[in-house]
Amino acid sequence: MERESFKSSFGLFAAAVGSAVGLGNIWRFPYITGKHGGAAFLIIYLICVAAIGIPVMLAEFIIGREGRKSAINSFKEIAPNSKWYLSGVLGVLAGFLILSFYSVIAGWTLEYLIKAITNEFAGKDVNAISNMFTEFTSHPVRPIIWQFIILAFTAYIVGNGIEKGIEKYSSILIPALIIIIIILDIRALTLPGSKEGLSFLFKPDFSKVNGKVIFAALGHSFFSLSLGAGTMITYGSYIKEGENLGRATVNIALADTLIALLAGIAIFPVVFAFGIAPNSGPGLVFITLPNVFPKLPGGYLFAVLFFLLLSLAAITSTISMLESVVAYVIDKFNIDRKKATFISISLVFIVGIFASLSNGPMANVPFFGRTFLDFLDYVTANYLMTIGSMISIIFVGWKLDRSMVKKQITNNGILDVGYLSLYDFVARFITPILIIIVFISSIKGLGV
Ligand code: TRP
Repeated sequence: MERESFKSSFGLFAAAVGSAVGLGNIWRFPYITGKHGGAAFLIIYLICVAAIGIPVMLAEFIIGREGRKSAINSFKEIAPNSKWYLSGVLGVLAGFLILSFYSVIAGWTLEYLIKAITNEFAGKDVNAISNMFTEFTSHPVRPIIWQFIILAFTAYIVGNGIEKGIEKYSSILIPALIIIIIILDIRALTLPGSKEGLSFLFKPDFSKVNGKVIFAALGHSFFSLSLGAGTMITYGSYIKEGENLGRATVNIALADTLIALLAGIAIFPVVFAFGIAPNSGPGLVFITLPNVFPKLPGGYLFAVLFFLLLSLAAITSTISMLESVVAYVIDKFNIDRKKATFISISLVFIVGIFASLSNGPMANVPFFGRTFLDFLDYVTANYLMTIGSMISIIFVGWKLDRSMVKKQITNNGILDVGYLSLYDFVARFITPILIIIVFISSIKGLGV
């Protein structure tokens, strides 16, 4: 049977941007930027995207389009009788684990969308809003129901396949998401305190920068671009021969970064307009913002659109995590897509339940010193994805035949690209060395 593919360039773009743009951009990026000193972090993040994220994404697309299989089997296809496929194993595992906890938080966004619609933030003080969050997230059942709904949506779309599922829905949701975020930006930028918020985001404070901050920027660039988790390899395997991989990669990375910035522009002016510290951490969008929405002119609509944005962004990402797992299950067990989807999502849900419970009934059951959800987040974002990305870039830089890399980047000599030898050099030396330096310095806790 012929492998499915993304039918149009826009479909590929929408699907990959859908994967990349998620809670990472709208929830995680603003709060870690807040925590690590605003613009200084942003600059380091941009360097990570350019010097590490883009080369790794291109490497993953190359592996996928050359192997034309799931993340694990693409390695097996290109480098038979070797251990490279273990990188794919790590990747699919990472995709699975990320989906298990990501779906919990994605579920929260739906609860908050309903809260916004029913105007539940109105008339509550800071404590009430913060209790509302703790009560909900620690509830033994409610978050799990929302998580189930997210997973069911995700499975429905993935079960319909690449063109009729992932491509179709991403092509609708991504433009919708961009329109929503622009409306939110306009509201935020016309607030009295907006200048301060913007200067926080765009004026660097380098005193906060150390090895850990750089590592956080690196980890976040992998997370935000969906790298090192089999996803982009899997999507690469659905890219048609005629697509320009280099151009697609740059466009996707730019769009992802731009949308993260637009999210920051929507959030920080609001935060500053109400004199709140920008470094409130993960609670930023679930506590800080709901607290100010009712005081904001037009705040009701802002709140509804904001949580709609979060939910949509989350779903286009969960799709891509599931696809990485499903593609592997199809390859491995040779079963049809619907069955593979059902099996995968059921397993994810089982692990995911524990991730959800770790905010409530199981909060006191430590998992290597953290709650289970935090542990999954920490291990995947900081280790699995870093290692997976490292292996992808080394595979393309050192193992793959140069003619194969050239074939993929130039579409068999049809495209005249000027960056072929630059890419070779970056993929062999720059990106791996940067990843190693950042990795070691953060483990040793060195201030760089
Ligand atoms: N990039 C998404 C975000 O920013 C998260 C994500 C989607 C992801 N698919 C992934 C992360 C695969 C790692 C691997 O929210």
